[in-house]
Amino acid sequence: MQVTVVDHPLIKQKITKMRAEHTSSRDFRECLDEIAMLMTYEVARNLPLQEVEVATPVAKTTGYKVAGDIFVVPILRAGLGLLTGVLKMIPDARVGFIGLYRDEETLKPIEYYCKLPDNKDGVTIVVDPMLATGGSAAAAISMLKARGLKNIRFMCLVAAPEGVKVMNDEHPDVPVYTAALDEKLNEHGYIVPGLGDAGDRIFGTH
Ligand code: URA
Repeated sequence: MQVTVVDHPLIKQKITKMRAEHTSSRDFRECLDEIAMLMTYEVARNLPLQEVEVATPVAKTTGYKVAGDIFVVPILRAGLGLLTGVLKMIPDARVGFIGLYRDEETLKPIEYYCKLPDNKDGVTIVVDPMLATGGSAAAAISMLKARGLKNIRFMCLVAAPEGVKVMNDEHPDVPVYTAALDEKLNEHGYIVPGLGDAGDRIFGTH
């Protein structure tokens, strides 16, 4: 499986602001939105293109448009924080949603919501800011594959080596794009150094 750390200077600076514990939700969301835009540049790098004819004021020439459909699927709820930035870069993308919670007894991820586009033929970008244990990302991707989505890429903000390993074991065909690859998980399942609970920080909850 391919892991790409999109470590651009602007991304590094913005993620540093997001890590800082006293950064407001407003600034946190703004940085996440901007990082999502910058990362989409890399995630979309090898999208298939089709040639189109375009008439400039001077002459006709050949241009390009992205061939086929692009689907963006945020994993609820923190994945919503990356959605707007991706859509600013790929405004014609179709959006699906998947929601999972963890069963407290079995610790298995259970799907509680799924709404996907009818057509499944295209490239799918699954987004969730934190790849921690990898449990929900791997489960969400298995559910999306079972419903027919193909050509899946996973985009996150911060990844732990544990989550990368799970993705590599369970979905070696899914490339992972992250803005940072952190050190480890702690005993509570938080990424270290990480940035805390991404959902709470995006939405101002505790
Ligand atoms: N989810 C989060 O929001 N933060 C972590 O550190 C781990 C999982």
